[in-house]
Amino acid sequence: MEQKSFIRQADLGDINAIIKINRQCLPENYSFDFFYRIITDFGFACVVAEQDGKVIGYLLSRLERPFSSFLGMNPAKGHVISIAVLPKYRRQGLGFEIMKYGMKKLIEQKVSSVYLEVRVSNIAAVEMYKKLGFYIKREHKEYYRDGESALVMEWGKRKENEDNL
Ligand SMILES: CC(C)(COP(=O)(O)OP(=O)(O)OC[C@H]1O[C@@H](n2cnc3c(N)ncnc32)[C@H](O)[C@@H]1OP(=O)(O)O)[C@@H](O)C(=O)NCCC(=O)NCCS
Repeated sequence: MEQKSFIRQADLGDINAIIKINRQCLPENYSFDFFYRIITDFGFACVVAEQDGKVIGYLLSRLERPFSSFLGMNPAKGHVISIAVLPKYRRQGLGFEIMKYGMKKLIEQKVSSVYLEVRVSNIAAVEMYKKLGFYIKREHKEYYRDGESALVMEWGKRKENEDNL
């Protein structure tokens, strides 16, 4: 029987499953405390995909408020920290749907833009972000520990971008 997946907000009970997927899918790994802090503070913008009672993909994102010495607080930005879908479940639209869910939650918080870093070699992720309306803002040379550079990609809050979600 074909199993249906669904997407929902992440909660603290998902942390162990998220850590497992993160370690399996990405070289950038984080401590339990890091996930705990992000989900506690920004759980509204953290997402999991579930199928058959099992978490198969996740997104962690947060709000950042840059400080301007002239004007006080600038509008908040969204920051995509980490996203992954287990290999078996890729290319079925799940990564895209997880991102859309998280982006809508960030927009509800009145962000002016959303940004992220992605390895220059990560074609799958770069293409997914482009499909969501992100553009390549700049390259951050040797951003990762192994020396690989990152593309900094940004999504601006505009009608055509919002219609895309
Ligand atoms: C990036 C990732 C989350 C995409 O998840 P996914 O569920 O496979 O993505 P989707 O099926 O929703 O695809 C959405 C779009 O992304 C692009 N895409 C996804 N996989 C791709 C691939 N292997 N090659 C090229 N484009 C790809 C396509 O534009 C696709 O749209 P399309 O199906 O209309 O062509 C997944 O590949 C992954 O977990 N990778 C390892 C972790 C990672 O790299 N995370 C990003 C760190 S910045």
